[in-house]
Amino acid sequence: MNVLPFRYITTPIYYVNDRPHLGHLYTSVAGDILARFYKLLGYGVKFVTGTDEHGAKVDQAARNQGVSPQDYVNSMAKAFQDLIHAAHVQADDFIRTTQDRHHRAATALWDRLEKTGAIYLDHYAGWYAIRDEAYYDESELTDGPDGKMAPTGAPVEWVQEPCYFFRLSQFQNPLLDYYHDHPEAIGPDSRYNEVVSFLNSGLRDLAVSRSKMTWGIPIPGSNHVMYVWVDALTNYLTGLGYPDTDCPEFETYWKESIHLMGKDILRFHAVYWPALLMAAGLTPPKRLFAHGWWMSEGQKMSKSLGNVIDPFALMDQYGVDRVRYFLFRHVRFGQDGDFSKELFQQRCNHELADGLGNLVHRVLSFIQNRLGCVMPVCSEIAVPLDSKYGAVHAGAETLGHWASEQLQWWIQMIEEQNIYGYLESVYSGITKGNAYMAELAPWALLKLANSGDTAAAQAMHHGLYALVSFLRDLAIALWPVIPSTAQSMWTQLGLQGAIQDSAKIGKELKNSTRGVFSCFGSDLPAVIGQPSPLFSKDV
Ligand code: MSP
Repeated sequence: MNVLPFRYITTPIYYVNDRPHLGHLYTSVAGDILARFYKLLGYGVKFVTGTDEHGAKVDQAARNQGVSPQDYVNSMAKAFQDLIHAAHVQADDFIRTTQDRHHRAATALWDRLEKTGAIYLDHYAGWYAIRDEAYYDESELTDGPDGKMAPTGAPVEWVQEPCYFFRLSQFQNPLLDYYHDHPEAIGPDSRYNEVVSFLNSGLRDLAVSRSKMTWGIPIPGSNHVMYVWVDALTNYLTGLGYPDTDCPEFETYWKESIHLMGKDILRFHAVYWPALLMAAGLTPPKRLFAHGWWMSEGQKMSKSLGNVIDPFALMDQYGVDRVRYFLFRHVRFGQDGDFSKELFQQRCNHELADGLGNLVHRVLSFIQNRLGCVMPVCSEIAVPLDSKYGAVHAGAETLGHWASEQLQWWIQMIEEQNIYGYLESVYSGITKGNAYMAELAPWALLKLANSGDTAAAQAMHHGLYALVSFLRDLAIALWPVIPSTAQSMWTQLGLQGAIQDSAKIGKELKNSTRGVFSCFGSDLPAVIGQPSPLFSKDV
């Protein structure tokens, strides 16, 4: 039997000290797009997200509300779960760091680190930024209006406490060697260089416990709790059932792990996390991908400026798919972006309503109004290019085979987390489809066919058949990004069931031949469904 590959995709787990914002939506949808694409290919996929519920920041937020941290995180975690549902993110698991299974995983990792001698007890005296949940060296700080400030702009406080340390300094060379041998481990490439130069500047041992706090995972035999980043990073193991690593599932998925995150937290993932894993005898994640940050109308999003984009409100106003599409079509995944309502509306109206919506409507309403919803017939035709309708037939062949020609490229784009490149290709298909519909001009061919021109009838059928087949493939290609719209296209085309159950690109690919259109299976139905506009109105 041919065993298909596996992929383990994760998002960062989100701090629950505040309501979800656009940044949370962004990574969750990115993970969802990758996971859905791999699911279409028939791969074994686990896509995991969750909430980071310990640490000083969350503790402080609970205190400000006058509730216990546990009650507070219970109510806040729900907002993050609601967000993924609202955004149609199909996560296979949702990890909360207050769950028992996570305590077990984090405690097991800690034990392992202690046993290997990677952790020792000492005393920390230095700076800590609660907002970043990060330790800073004096030399990194600057003077801000309200006192000393971390490079991120976060206020810092002086912390002095007994503390466990992790021997991070011993991992400078192992990490440099690892990244030297695995240049593909960090994307985009510019981030790889950033990590390597950070490693070259030297590493100091890392404080990994807090003794003046109680809201965290207790360290057995002490009155300390784990530093929230050690606790949080371990969630990636919890998602695979750690510490039960002897099950084949753990091995299979861990080897194929892809961690997505924002650029601000790459260092935690690319330096601390692989070092902790190496110390525990585990391999680093296969790939880390750091995306950029969104600004709002040209400015950094901040509560004080009142320009923080509420992802729920955005999706309510414009619909989930417009938001999902824009976030990944407007900006190359990996680069910073600026969210502007004007550009959002322009792009959605131009590409989704006028581009995609019109194409689907033109093709289907022609078949409905002029052919009584009956699918055009298409047999194997070999029409010489220089015949009267040779160009129409050639165009039909090109369009009908477009998706199968693109497939390898799409796989490559998704493997590189280049969702922008993927959408660029899919959108170019929409443009080609519209151009072909105009070139085919089926209404003119129908007129000729009705006056007895059988060659015109054959050309019209061939062209329309190719268009419908092309739309079916387009629906599949769009499904990872705009799943509801894709499903609606599918149903309007008269295809049954849910796309994810019917379309298995990988399975069909094996059987594909050049003789039939599309490698994606699902025969075209005898009659199309009821056409209705995909995007009800311009926004
Ligand atoms: N809890 C940690 C992650 C632990 S993972 C083991 C954390 N949480 S967070 O809620 O503060 O941030 C989550 C993600 O949101 C990060 O990847 C961060 O980069 C991202 N974003 C926060 N603001 C953002 C934008 N304005 N734009 C895009 N992403 C942004 O860090």
